[in-house]
Amino acid sequence: MKGLYPGTTIAANHLDTFTLILTLTCSLVTVGIVITTIYFCYKFHASKKLQHPENFQSTKIEVLWTSITLIIFMSFFTWATYLYKVQITPPKKVDYEILVYGKRWMWKFYHQNGFAEVNHLHLPKNKNIRLTMISKDVIHSFFLPDFRLKQDLLPETYTYLHLRPAKNGKYRIYCAEYCGSYHAKMTGITTVMNETDYLAHTGMLQKQTTSRGHDLFIKSGCISCHNNESQTAPFLPHYTAKRTDAFLRRSILYPKEYVEKGFEPVMPSFKEILSEKDIKDIIDYLRATEVK
Ligand code: CUA
Repeated sequence: MKGLYPGTTIAANHLDTFTLILTLTCSLVTVGIVITTIYFCYKFHASKKLQHPENFQSTKIEVLWTSITLIIFMSFFTWATYLYKVQITPPKKVDYEILVYGKRWMWKFYHQNGFAEVNHLHLPKNKNIRLTMISKDVIHSFFLPDFRLKQDLLPETYTYLHLRPAKNGKYRIYCAEYCGSYHAKMTGITTVMNETDYLAHTGMLQKQTTSRGHDLFIKSGCISCHNNESQTAPFLPHYTAKRTDAFLRRSILYPKEYVEKGFEPVMPSFKEILSEKDIKDIIDYLRATEVK
């Protein structure tokens, strides 16, 4: 099947094949039913004054055609479920992390080193990319039709999308969830480029010695309480493994919401201090240092 842009991702190719075969099968069934109906209208027309055959019944035919169609359509179901599972299973190794921040009415993208861009997302080719998404206000939906991918962005929690672009080029981004007056204008472009171009574009060619999250953890003063000798706050490497990213994010923004047993609610909120990207980087830093 000629997709909008075939080959943008491997998953997109499989999905296109699936859609083509499903459409062909359904068309074939429809055409078959319509032709049979028309033929029977003619063959059994009242004007022919046919005798009604009494008790015509064949269990054999009924079982046969019911089970054959059941098998055909259940195999579509199985195939589609498999494709969906492939799509939502994260890759073993993520090469690049990108934060997608949606608000009325724009997309903001933060690359690993903090480099930000608005309504234009640059991606490296043939690399596993994880998009972590969050919304500032209402529900948005990040839609990449050429990649056959779509994922909602929710306020106050993270959602994820994994992709591996296979072809250089420019592709469209849409918001696929009605989010207010300028929903239709909440669009963007994604440019897939070679990895070296991507690194040059985002300024990641110069390798950072420490991670951004580590620097923020020190600079924001987290370390003064969250250290291994502290009595006032839990030591995070032992603590974060059993918590989700969204939970850790809320603990930074609304620390009084959940206070770990044995500790006082002394942590201030970092709501006005850290940006969405800062928080994500601190969480990534905590993940990298945690003890499982
Ligand atoms: Cu954002 Cu529609």
